[in-house]
Amino acid sequence: MALNVAVVGMGNIGNVHAGCYATDPLARIVAVCDIIRERADAAASKYGCPAFYSVKSMLKSGIKIDCASMCTAGKENGGDHYQATMDLLNGGIPVLGEKPISNEVAKARRMVALAKKKRLRYGINLNHRFTPAARLARGWVEKGCLGELNMINMRMWINNPNETSPHFHIRALHPHSIDVMRYFCGDIQRVQAFFKRGKTVDGKRRVCWSNLQVNMLFANGVLGHLCGSYDAGGGFGLESCEVTGSKGRFVILEACEEVTFYSRQSTETEHYHHLGGMTGFGETFPDRIHVWLEQNAKKLAPARIDGSGEEALKAQLVIEAAIESWEKGKIVDVR
Ligand SMILES: NC(=O)c1ccc[n+]([C@@H]2O[C@H](COP(=O)([O-])OP(=O)(O)OC[C@H]3O[C@@H](n4cnc5c(N)ncnc54)[C@H](O)[C@@H]3O)[C@@H](O)[C@H]2O)c1
Repeated sequence: MALNVAVVGMGNIGNVHAGCYATDPLARIVAVCDIIRERADAAASKYGCPAFYSVKSMLKSGIKIDCASMCTAGKENGGDHYQATMDLLNGGIPVLGEKPISNEVAKARRMVALAKKKRLRYGINLNHRFTPAARLARGWVEKGCLGELNMINMRMWINNPNETSPHFHIRALHPHSIDVMRYFCGDIQRVQAFFKRGKTVDGKRRVCWSNLQVNMLFANGVLGHLCGSYDAGGGFGLESCEVTGSKGRFVILEACEEVTFYSRQSTETEHYHHLGGMTGFGETFPDRIHVWLEQNAKKLAPARIDGSGEEALKAQLVIEAAIESWEKGKIVDVR
């Protein structure tokens, strides 16, 4: 049976979520909400549901909502998430939020704590791991095909000329890369970071630290490295992830486009191109949203959902530790 779904924040990504719900048999869009009336009204006529201009009025309307997507943005793309998420959770509604969970760790902790207290499913759209390629590779790790894990190298870069604050790049983009690293290798304990401000294409020094290299030590002893940039892009090359172990290694390109297993002792490789028919990054959204719907339809225990608020919080703690490492010039424990 289809779930009644609301979408809050009808900008670019809110409309991507709504488009996924509109074509997913597990969902029926029953409300859209944006503080910009024209955006809410346009979405309401597109998706055939009532428009609301605040979360509070949507909750008061009495419309039955089984779960909601929360797609606001704000400072460092996460500054507006807090109040609307708290209102939805206080209204008893499971929430799928956008990344970053928040640009402020204290608020991220409060949202995760409220969801836990109310026993509500709280997920974040950590969509880079929601690919058949990542699932296969995680299976290789779990089945021991790589042996004991040794290292992970992650690269994620795009050309994003937007400027806000000094830490816009790491806070807005790297919840994704760090989540993928955690997905394969577990909790990160210590980090050491170097940042560089790049230049805009017209030669001006950027406000944000738009290039970074971060070393990581995982709780299980794995060594990690993250390379990130907002000054790159230019065609093919959003992300690559390589995990090595005592028996073999795998490489994933562009989240879903190529995945290859290389044995340490044999020249034979196992290679998939567009595994599961997923051809590009855009298709990670319907995959992630479908998993969220399935897990809600099954009433999965909040602690068991994929890409939870708690996992997003853990990625955010790594981000804050990397910032502290760069600012203080030292290795920082993630806490
Ligand atoms: N997962 C991904 O791959 C991915 C990709 C890009 C962006 N994002 C994230 O998606 C989010 C949205 O990005 P965007 O580009 O669509 O932003 P946007 O600014 O285009 O849209 C945000 C919308 O939220 C509305 N809004 C703000 N506060 C509100 C409130 N209290 N109640 C209702 N509506 C409110 C705004 O009016 C606006 O229309 C950001 O957090 C961003 O980081 C995720």
